[in-house]
Amino acid sequence: MNYRCPVCQKTLKLKERTLVCDNRHSFDLAKSGYVNLCRNFKPTQGDNKEMVQSRTAFLEKGYYHALADEMVKIVSEMNPAVLFDCACGQGYYTRQMKEATTGEVHAFDMSREAILHASKKDKASSYVIASIFDLPAFNQSVDCITVLFAPTATEEFHRVLKQDGVLITVGPGEDHLFELKAAVYDQPYKNDDTPAVLDGFKLVEQRFVEDEILVECNEDIQALFMMTPYTYKTSEKDMQKLRALNTLKTRVHFSICVYKKK
Ligand SMILES: C[S@@+](CC[C@H](N)C(=O)[O-])C[C@H]1O[C@@H](n2cnc3c(N)ncnc32)[C@H](O)[C@@H]1O
Ligand SMILES: [Zn+2]
Repeated sequence: MNYRCPVCQKTLKLKERTLVCDNRHSFDLAKSGYVNLCRNFKPTQGDNKEMVQSRTAFLEKGYYHALADEMVKIVSEMNPAVLFDCACGQGYYTRQMKEATTGEVHAFDMSREAILHASKKDKASSYVIASIFDLPAFNQSVDCITVLFAPTATEEFHRVLKQDGVLITVGPGEDHLFELKAAVYDQPYKNDDTPAVLDGFKLVEQRFVEDEILVECNEDIQALFMMTPYTYKTSEKDMQKLRALNTLKTRVHFSICVYKKK
């Protein structure tokens, strides 16, 4: 699949290690193989190095393997010709989904750190710095979009998906990390896992993945906490409770929603 030039929207073609359009806009592939096709790229966008390293350390220990396994199962059954993993982060799920399909896998994220890490580790997928709200892709060119723990760019996904294309979103289920929240907060609450209503899409399935994990050291517990939105809104008093934990058994609970175009 060819990308669309982010400047003039013509087709980008690969010449040696550069993507070029007929209007001679050109984008060099980095040493690790990724390309930056972001229209207004600022190096500070997306997750920073610390966030990427912390999430990588946690994910690579396999704590969320139950979700990865389910994504692999879905993708291998579907075997899409073109899959876009949007807001792919450091490619933990991308890499495994690529192994489950004979099709092309393209992955997009605004964070250079995340894309750099992903492209070093996985040579089979194509990694691109781009906003998922401004994808360098032609209309109706994609069979499947996955978006895990990231915003849904509904209009843009609708534009690039083929008429029979499938959108898969993943977010926290009701009980996700409940025991982690109970260890930190006086009043932990459950997540709302009602599927989002997305303009132009109909929900065809919601499925859940559940597991119980034993997080074995404080470093991993803190890494896990940093991956959650709670990290931004936790008081110093509650953070101290987190720092005092040495092991944690907690449920992980994921909601997978499958949408098709109306
Ligand atoms: C919580 S992480 C999830 C990463 C990956 N999907 C995973 O589950 O491991 C959210 C990611 O969304 C990216 N992101 C946020 N807004 C974005 C946007 N508008 N375009 C592309 N990436 C975006 C961040 O840089 C970050 O890597
Ligand atoms: Zn161009």
